[in-house]
Amino acid sequence: MSAAEAASGPTAAELLDFVRRTADDAALVAALPLDPEGRTWLRLEGPGGSEAWLIGWPPGTGTGWHDHAESIGAFTIASGALREHSLAARLPADGWKTLELNEGIDRTRELTTGRGRAFGRHHVHEVLNASGQEHAVSVHAYYPPLPLIRRYSRVGAVLRLEQTERPEDWQ
Ligand SMILES: [Fe+2]
Repeated sequence: MSAAEAASGPTAAELLDFVRRTADDAALVAALPLDPEGRTWLRLEGPGGSEAWLIGWPPGTGTGWHDHAESIGAFTIASGALREHSLAARLPADGWKTLELNEGIDRTRELTTGRGRAFGRHHVHEVLNASGQEHAVSVHAYYPPLPLIRRYSRVGAVLRLEQTERPEDWQ
């Protein structure tokens, strides 16, 4: 995808608007199969060529630390609640395997039903359903459609790049 195409895509605000409207579509949200053993996904058509997903999260499930490289995105909660851990710092996009994080850059957001957020490129986060009992359902949109996901491990202040997943790895 060229820079010009990326520049003409939906904005983070438009992605957030889309995920909010989608989360309000009770019939669509109800169409997502829920599995008590693991997360479930339903691919949606996002605005302006973006990639969108409806995701079901049983209690205790989460993503682990990752980013979406050059993609911007937004997500919101259709039911239940999710917790997001993120970093309030712009990390170098590449050229490193481990980073020692400064104190004070960790952020935690508790996102309840109807709450959402947008994020920019290189946003590093993990999202989890910290509830002991309640399933959560969320709506996500990304643009450009996810070219890759970088996965990290985190031990204390040290973030380590573990894996880069490309679309062909997901199929
Ligand atoms: Fe993510």
